[in-house]
Amino acid sequence: MFSARVPPLRSNRVARAIARVHATGQPLDDLTVSNPTRVGLSYPARLLEPLGATSALRYDPAPFGVAAAREAVAAYLTGRGVRVSADRVIVTASTSESYSLLFKLLCDPADLVLVPQPSYPLFEHLTRLDGVVASAYALEYHGRWELNLDSLHRAVEPRARAILLVNPNNPTGSFVRQDELDAVRETAARHELAIISDEVFDVYPLEERAPGGSGALVGECDALTFTLGGLSKSAALPQVKLGWILVGGPETLVRRALARLELVCDSYLSVATPVQLAVGTLLERTGPVVDQIRRRVRANYATLRSLVRRFPACGVLHTEAGWYAVVQVPATRSEEALVIDLIERDRVLVHPGYFFDFPREAFLVISLLPAPAVFAGPVTRVLTRASR
Ligand SMILES: Cc1ncc(COP(=O)(O)O)c(C=O)c1O
Repeated sequence: MFSARVPPLRSNRVARAIARVHATGQPLDDLTVSNPTRVGLSYPARLLEPLGATSALRYDPAPFGVAAAREAVAAYLTGRGVRVSADRVIVTASTSESYSLLFKLLCDPADLVLVPQPSYPLFEHLTRLDGVVASAYALEYHGRWELNLDSLHRAVEPRARAILLVNPNNPTGSFVRQDELDAVRETAARHELAIISDEVFDVYPLEERAPGGSGALVGECDALTFTLGGLSKSAALPQVKLGWILVGGPETLVRRALARLELVCDSYLSVATPVQLAVGTLLERTGPVVDQIRRRVRANYATLRSLVRRFPACGVLHTEAGWYAVVQVPATRSEEALVIDLIERDRVLVHPGYFFDFPREAFLVISLLPAPAVFAGPVTRVLTRASR
């Protein structure tokens, strides 16, 4: 009766261990947290008031978003050094929705999109829900994460339609280097593949960064490109639901893409008018929240690195940006066994590396978002257990 795109949700051993602890009523320190609204940050009072503007009582359906929203996003990005005009901005309900719209634009059922590995686990579902196949190319760690170009070239099969970049990547926190980007652009143009570049985390560099890295594909001349971002990270407001797609590439291809995307977006018209009218103000007023997060993830990353020095069997992989860090731990037992032990005996929750398709064990992914008061203690328990 049901589509093969939606397999039933299956429980796993980690989820069952979490449920057992919750059933006892004991608290778990959550080092997987990715929800900025649940980690004790202070948001400006009345931040969401612009969502109640009376101008939103009027509905003017616009497939790519109302002009005010597209202009506000373009102005925000221009302020960040990304030169994009409003007519190349498409407003969506979220980055996840942006992926879905683009898969519909680019892929027939069973076509391939090339995704980095390790990366964001939601790709498995996002692709499957649109009848598309995720085919991996490798990121490898040699003191820093590098894109394995041979594996990318091997993945370019006749049914491949797009190369996905996550820049910076989740959870490795690695930026795509300029020479890697040039090679991806060249591969995409040669094989007529689009590039989808997910840059949601680029406002969170862990170190100062030379300007000019963001939105590098917006001015692309040879390949068709789509650069993704949204309020969930740029304003730390995942619940407000607004994302964007920036379209770049050769003029004729862009025009053909926009003509088709307009039909896709017009079929759903999924972005609410109040958030479209408020987006400029929300981006402006959440600047201090983004600054708080930036300071927090940097401080937690420094704490993590200093704690790990006391545990010679563990190491922190070099992280350039984002909300997560990767810790390598002794592979004396499986990641799953260690994570379950941490839940049941130490009352700490971390993600195992296999959750993100790390090519081998043993890695733990640790969120840098928790308040500092609930970070160092749980991390120390993790490192102590992992070193046993
Ligand atoms: C790399 C990456 N892209 C996209 C998203 C989803 O963003 P949105 O909330 O805009 O759908 C996430 C969420 O954590 C993410 O990690």
